Amino acid sequence: MARVFSGIQPSGELHIGNYLGAVKNWVRLQDAHECIYCVVDLHAITQPYDPAGLAQRTHDMAVGLLAAGIDPARATLFVQSHVAEHSELSWILTTVTPLGELERQTQYKDKAQRQESVPAGLLAYPVLQAADIIIYKADAVPLYHATLVPVGEDQVQHLELMREIARRWNSRYAAEFFPEPQPLLTATKRVLGLDGQAKMSKSLGNTIGLLESPEAIWEKLKPAATDPARVTRKDPGNPELCNVFTIHQGFSPPEVQAEVAQKCRTAGWGCLDCKRVLADHMIAELTPIRERAAELNANPVGVRTLLREGADRARAIARRTLHGVRRHMGFLKAGED
Ligand code: TRP
Repeated sequence: MARVFSGIQPSGELHIGNYLGAVKNWVRLQDAHECIYCVVDLHAITQPYDPAGLAQRTHDMAVGLLAAGIDPARATLFVQSHVAEHSELSWILTTVTPLGELERQTQYKDKAQRQESVPAGLLAYPVLQAADIIIYKADAVPLYHATLVPVGEDQVQHLELMREIARRWNSRYAAEFFPEPQPLLTATKRVLGLDGQAKMSKSLGNTIGLLESPEAIWEKLKPAATDPARVTRKDPGNPELCNVFTIHQGFSPPEVQAEVAQKCRTAGWGCLDCKRVLADHMIAELTPIRERAAELNANPVGVRTLLREGADRARAIARRTLHGVRRHMGFLKAGED
């Protein structure tokens, strides 16, 4: 069984973009893989953030993941900063990471441009990401199993770099110690924000939160952008160019998608008719998620306990890996250890 690792930043409540783009797939992957999922708070501090709200955002993200169906009985879910070994391996990996490769990362260049003073942590972001993944190789046995990493298209460059980092460490210290993480590319649709323009993002206010009430879902869906060529009710539309149809593809069953597409192309339905059908399917899928989240939020200590158990499981693997890393790199052992 391949081991899958993925991480998500603690941005607070999940929105339907995160859900359709990643988390729904994470839930599915639990059936066939050994999954390790991490709320990456150490990555979140590489950009300006509000420390007073970090713990709450981390809790909210964990609750969203659990409510969406990440099952702590089958997957390991934890908070990155609870397993200090990530930071230690990350430091070690900086010593085998070519600076030029880091500077070439598109995401770094984008983010750096928007900051007056660029912290080194922003540059080292992919190194920590590499540590996140390769620290969970199960054993030092070569080709034991490949670690599969679900990635979005924008993460492909990072993944290439992570493979490079693993290769360099291996070639310097211990051949085939770290597996090179492979991409596990699944077909997810890129859902745009409700404005139909930008990526769905909380800071742009163009999202629907995963835990919003049926009324709020409808209020936000009603004015959402559709095929821009469809100006009047009588104009036929093109579902391929409609962001609302993309959302249908995430929530509505195939036969409903087919009907919606046909009614759109023939102007049989107006956009509002189409959105009503979508709202029904969204609400049907999201209502149990919202209810589970409410139960989890009623017991925050229970959530912290789950996260501690997840961190304990993760740490047991991470410590084993670091033990091997230290040994191969020639560090002096402490005491009897
Ligand atoms: N950089 C990822 C993002 O912002 C989050 C992340 C951190 C991650 N570590 C990871 C994703 C390891 C996959 C694997 O979305």
